[in-house]
Amino acid sequence: MARVFSGIQPSGVPTLGNYLGAIRNWVALQAAHECVFCVVDLHAITVWQDPAALRQATREMAASVIACGIDPARHILFHQSAVPAHAQLAWIFNCVARLGWLNRMTQFKDKSGSDREAASAGLYVYPNLMAADILAYHATLVPVGDDQRQHIELANDIAQKFNHDYAADFFPQIQAAIPAISARVMSLRDGTKKMSKSDPSDQSRISLTDDADTIVQKIRKAKTDPAPLPATLAELEHRPEARNLVGIFAALTDTPAQSVLDRFAGQGFGQFKPVLAECVAEALAPIRAETRRLMADIPALDALLRQGAARAAAIATPILAEAEALVGLLPR
Ligand code: TYM
Repeated sequence: MARVFSGIQPSGVPTLGNYLGAIRNWVALQAAHECVFCVVDLHAITVWQDPAALRQATREMAASVIACGIDPARHILFHQSAVPAHAQLAWIFNCVARLGWLNRMTQFKDKSGSDREAASAGLYVYPNLMAADILAYHATLVPVGDDQRQHIELANDIAQKFNHDYAADFFPQIQAAIPAISARVMSLRDGTKKMSKSDPSDQSRISLTDDADTIVQKIRKAKTDPAPLPATLAELEHRPEARNLVGIFAALTDTPAQSVLDRFAGQGFGQFKPVLAECVAEALAPIRAETRRLMADIPALDALLRQGAARAAAIATPILAEAEALVGLLPR
């Protein structure tokens, strides 16, 4: 049975993009896999986070993930900094990964922007920590959105080079599980940018904690074009905003995008948007309610995370010890 690992940064409130691109898949994989899910606070601090806001976001992220349907009793949910094996294995991987590999990472280029000299060293080696997250559990299946594809490829390069350098068949190859329809949910303000929890504009995203009125208002204001919805997917190719809204509706209703066009072709956004907004609001209402319920008892939530961390450490610590032994580090 393949072990599943995935992570999410507590760098804000989770978005509809996180849900459709990743968390929904996490929930589905629980039925037939052993799953480890992690709120990756060490990744979040690669860019500055307000300490109080980070604490709040870490708990809220864990609560949202449970509210989406992750079962912390049957599977493992914890925050990354509670299991030191992640940072320890990441250090070994810092010594395995090559600068040339990291220089090719598009996420570093995007996130460091025009002032690369001012980016943290942590942001640069971010992909090595992500490889450690997965490989510390010998996980082989990683459900993520499309934007993580390059990081998974790098994790495989690291695993392969480690195995080669230390003449061991130790780390397995990883497979990304990327959804067919909603692998890339785009911003409501700009259909060429991905929807992100850290975008400065709250209007660019639907957050899992938005109430129905906010959702209706954000979708009403979402950027579109004046043409009605077309009859074929090919006609959406140069209409990124329209394509995005059709994709969201398709994903939420579990229907192919073509069926959405069959139903709405010829109608304008004035007709389509209210139907879409109702569908989004209906899907998110129970998640929002359950997140609030869980956030009302912080000691219980923290206890759940601690139990998750203990179970995670029980898997990761022996794997780390074996990796350290292969490298030639003396046992503790
Ligand atoms: P993060 O926190 O940016 O996003 C969490 C998950 O949501 C997916 N996602 C999206 N999918 C579709 N459309 C979008 N607009 C969208 N935005 C985000 C992401 O692909 C991701 O699956 N580096 C990771 C966190 C991480 C991780 C890991 C993931 C750290 N270690 C190990 C997997 C395995 C990240 O920044 O995700």
